[in-house]
Amino acid sequence: MQGNFSYHNPTKLYFGKDSLNFLKEELKNYGSKVLLNYGSGSVKRNGIYDQVMAILREAGKTIVENPGVMTNPTLEKLNEGVKIARENDVDLILALGGGSVCDYSKAVAASVFCDGDYWDMFWLKQQNPAKGQKLLPVGCILTMAGTGSEMNAGTVITDAEHTFKVGHVFDDRLMPKFSILNPEFTMTVPENQMKAGIYDIMNHIMEQYFSDLDDNTSDYISEGLMRSVINSSRVAVKNPKDYEARSNIMWTATWALNTLIGMGKQQDWMVHMIGHSVGAWTHAPHGYALASVSMAYYRRAMKNGLPKFVRFAKNVWNVNGDGRTDEQIAEAGLQALKEWMTEIGLPLTISEVGATADMIPGITETTVVYPAGYLNLSKEDVTEILKESL
Ligand code: NZQ
Ligand code: ZN
Repeated sequence: MQGNFSYHNPTKLYFGKDSLNFLKEELKNYGSKVLLNYGSGSVKRNGIYDQVMAILREAGKTIVENPGVMTNPTLEKLNEGVKIARENDVDLILALGGGSVCDYSKAVAASVFCDGDYWDMFWLKQQNPAKGQKLLPVGCILTMAGTGSEMNAGTVITDAEHTFKVGHVFDDRLMPKFSILNPEFTMTVPENQMKAGIYDIMNHIMEQYFSDLDDNTSDYISEGLMRSVINSSRVAVKNPKDYEARSNIMWTATWALNTLIGMGKQQDWMVHMIGHSVGAWTHAPHGYALASVSMAYYRRAMKNGLPKFVRFAKNVWNVNGDGRTDEQIAEAGLQALKEWMTEIGLPLTISEVGATADMIPGITETTVVYPAGYLNLSKEDVTEILKESL
């Protein structure tokens, strides 16, 4: 293992069909005013909202509702949530939804007691709240699997006015205090969002796996997680109601991005940087935006990270290396990735998610670029990757 690190994850998880039962107990740990953030109505249609409201009422909580948290939450909506939380002096933020609602809730929690310009400090300057700044506790009731937001301190916010989507990973203080993961809640997720979530999971693992060339325990865990998500995705795409597959996908999503498999790794995240920019321009589901630029990106990365791509081919995709060169084995691994993406119905080009050639300069401009993984990209390289992905 390279590097020095500390590992601490304070989020308490409740998993399974009965997991919502634990909300009542958790609520006892917090004050009486609860800010309930949710999205554009799915939780009302599938009945989860009613279940949560009944538990909140039974616990005697005063509920302040903040609906309309959009997918890829905006700065404007963040400002609105901060205002509501300040005006109502809330004690707990409860996120009811997917990664967008969870991210958003952490963003509000960080910003409510911030004295300065929280957008500038936390997202543009990537700072953390000052030591001693009060932070609101967040609990998540997750309804969609993919981002890992339920057990990490990530918050991705979009400045819609400037078509700029930017993430900030806060320190441990902003990790949810608890998260409730009931795989049955994910059964009503539209098929395209389920698939986008599946690729998001896969790509989170790849972003951490494809860096460094040392022998690292984290990579062995990653390979197991990738095999699990590939296996379960094949089942879930054929039968979205398969509980075994959906529950494995939900659990894999959490472990793909709860910081564990990034330990001792430099990590990459450039597919996410380019993907975020594609998403800001096209409004594509997050996982689709990532998928649309992945093949062009990994073909480039393969040249510098060949031993890891060989390992990926053999250990994740069971590629037989007999009689093949390392390049051929690595190529076969990427081919297997592409075939799996095609099989489960993911976009392989940015055209499929609504990007056009004339958007490429703008997408390039708003992509955050830094040396990462096996590459040190320039803006020109990003343009090339986008052109190859058209
Ligand atoms: O708005 P509602 O009505 O809730 O509908 C949502 C939304 O339209 C719907 N949905 C969610 N659960 C449902 C459901 N529909 C029916 N039944 C259910 N049970 O699905 C749509 C997508 O939801 P969203 O929360 O936007 O998706 P996701 O979980 O993929 O979150 C995406 C956001 O997370 C960020 C992304 O950039 C994006 O902004 N990310 C956060 C990360 C983190 N915290 O570490 C890392 C990720 O890489 C990612 O960047
Ligand atoms: Zn992601």
